[in-house]
Parts: sequence; structure tokens; C-alpha cells
Amino acid sequence: MPDAAERLQQLREEAETAVRAARSSSELEDLRVRFLGRRSELTGVLRSIGELPASERGPVGQAANSVREAVESLLTEHGRVLQSAELDARLVADRVDVTLPGDPPSPNGRLHLVTQTRREIEDIFTGLGFSVVEGPEIELDYYNFTALNMPPAHPARAMQDTFYVSDDVVLRTHTSPVQVRTMETHEPPVYVIVPGRVYRRDSDATHTPMFHQVEGLAVDEDITLADLKGVLLEFVREIFGREREIRLRSSYFPFTEPSVECDVSCFACGGAGTLRDGSRDPLCKGSGWIEILGAGMVDPNLYGFVADRGYDPERVQGFAFGMGIERIAMLRHGVPDLRMFFENDLRFLEQFA
Ligand code: DAH
Repeated sequence: MPDAAERLQQLREEAETAVRAARSSSELEDLRVRFLGRRSELTGVLRSIGELPASERGPVGQAANSVREAVESLLTEHGRVLQSAELDARLVADRVDVTLPGDPPSPNGRLHLVTQTRREIEDIFTGLGFSVVEGPEIELDYYNFTALNMPPAHPARAMQDTFYVSDDVVLRTHTSPVQVRTMETHEPPVYVIVPGRVYRRDSDATHTPMFHQVEGLAVDEDITLADLKGVLLEFVREIFGREREIRLRSSYFPFTEPSVECDVSCFACGGAGTLRDGSRDPLCKGSGWIEILGAGMVDPNLYGFVADRGYDPERVQGFAFGMGIERIAMLRHGVPDLRMFFENDLRFLEQFA
């Protein structure tokens, strides 16, 4: 019995020392198993009490139980202290400073100047009652040339340096093929504009192998050149300012008759041809006018390609026009070289917010 009591006292001291030295609640869990677990020495003592002489059972049992309770309550008490310290440490480690600024917002992108300009042109013409339609960039020779009054070997085909995909398929050299395509599917009256990419074997400061055009086509009863002039004047004033004037000069296109070039009064010199210091205006080269597009009255021959769609040349007339989107943007913004549109230099592109 004295041995047992002594051993229990030792166990209690051992356990107390170990628990006080524990630095984490998981360490405490190990100690609980070691001192109070099913295979611990203390549990062994309690379990074998029945084997002791009757006189020792009471005192040893009491002593063992009191050691167990003491170790138990020390574990619980120390556990609480450690857990709260651990929680504090976690809170500090996980702290989020909600007053810090967020990630800087990524800079806003913007539309390419060609896209901005195309949309503005579309806005103006939809305001005048035109619809926007599109056509294929890979086009049949038939629509690109033949149906525009340029049969094979017609000299006007040489006006446009063409990328041929095969003998009868081209990368369209202009948006004009959509004129006949539109008339094939729409009976008159027709009021459409056709924005899109076009391709030519050309590359210098004012030409790139790919560029953008907007075609216009109006076919109705009683359409005259005066309607064309009125529409173009309104367009020009929306794009270049209300003070602008236009003039039509006679020209040639295979698919219009008569054909015209449309000039806008120069916005650098106001049409005078000279700058304030008396020098010649370089923008309009002293003429006071800047050429911006080709146009004309739809050649009645074209209606022959869509005869079954109700385009009777005795009944309907039309006008058409075609302009380069980059050219409009260059003139408006003073862009000196067309190739800058497609070099994707952000220092250039970001100027046009
Ligand atoms: N398709 C012509 C070109 O690319 C531009 C043009 C001229 C279009 C007169 C027209 C027009 O619709 O009537 O050079």
C-alpha cells in the first residue's frame, strides 16, 4: 500500500509537470491519453483494485481517483488557457485590414478608332432611315465585278488590285457587291448601308491590304441626284461640322451613271485654300475642298441582274455611294499614315477615347 500511494503521488507530480509544460492543446490531448487513457498506468491501477487485499482497496481507490480528478481538472483548466491563446494567435494571423485599398482596377479598354468611326457613320445613316446590312468578305467574282457592270476582261477591273482566291472567288475589293446581293433579297424600296472590311494588293501611307468601307444604296420611286446630294450633305455636316459644304464633281464608276466624287469644304482653311498666315493649306492642297467618297445614280443595267425582284428601271431609280472609314477618321483626327490603324501601338490607339 505505501508503494501504491507513493507511485500515485509520483504519477500526479509527473502529470502536473508535463501538463504545465505543454505549449499547445494538441500536446495536452497527447498527455490526456498518456496519463488518463485506457492503457495508462493510472487506469491500470483503478482497474486492478479488485485484486488488492480488501483493506487496501478503499484507500488506494480513493487516492487513484483523486489523482485522476486532479489531473483531469488541470488538463481542462490548462486547456482553456492554451485554446484561448491559440485563438488569439489565429485571429492575429488571419487579420484582414478592411481599410486597405482593393486591387487597383484594371484600366478600361476602348473601341478602336475604326470601330468608333464606323458606329458613328451607322448612327448617322440609321437616323436618316437606312438599315445596316453586311455581306461576305470572300466574294464571288460575279458580285464583286460582273454584276457591277464589269464583265471578265473589263478594263475597270484593273482599277482595283485584287486578291484572287480562285478563278471565280476574290477577297472583295469594295463593299459594292452587297448592292446586288441586297437587291436579290429585298424588293424596292431599299435604303441600306453596308459597313465592312475590303482587301486590295496595296500598301503605302494611304493604302493597306485590308481596310474598311461603308457602302450606301437607296432605290425607290422618284429618287434623284438631289436626294443623293441632300443625304451626303447631312452626313458630312454630322461628321465634320454643321458649317461644312459639299460639292459633287463628275467622275466614273462602272456601276453608276452619272458618277460623282463628293468633296467636303476644307475644315482646316474653311474652304479658302489658304491658312491665316496666307500660306497654302496643305490639307486641301490649296483647293479648299477635300475628296471623301465616290457616288452616283445606280446604273439601270444593275437592275437587269435582279429583274425578277421588282426592280423595273422604268419605275425605280437609285443612288449609291462608297467611302473609306479610315479615310474619314484620318481627316477628322489628323492621322498622317493609314498603317497606324493596324500597327496596334497603344500610344496611338489610346488617344481616341
Ligand atoms: N466601290 C467604289 C470603290 O471602292 C466606291 C464607290 C463609288 C461606291 C461609287 C459606290 C459608288 O457605291 O456609287 O472605289
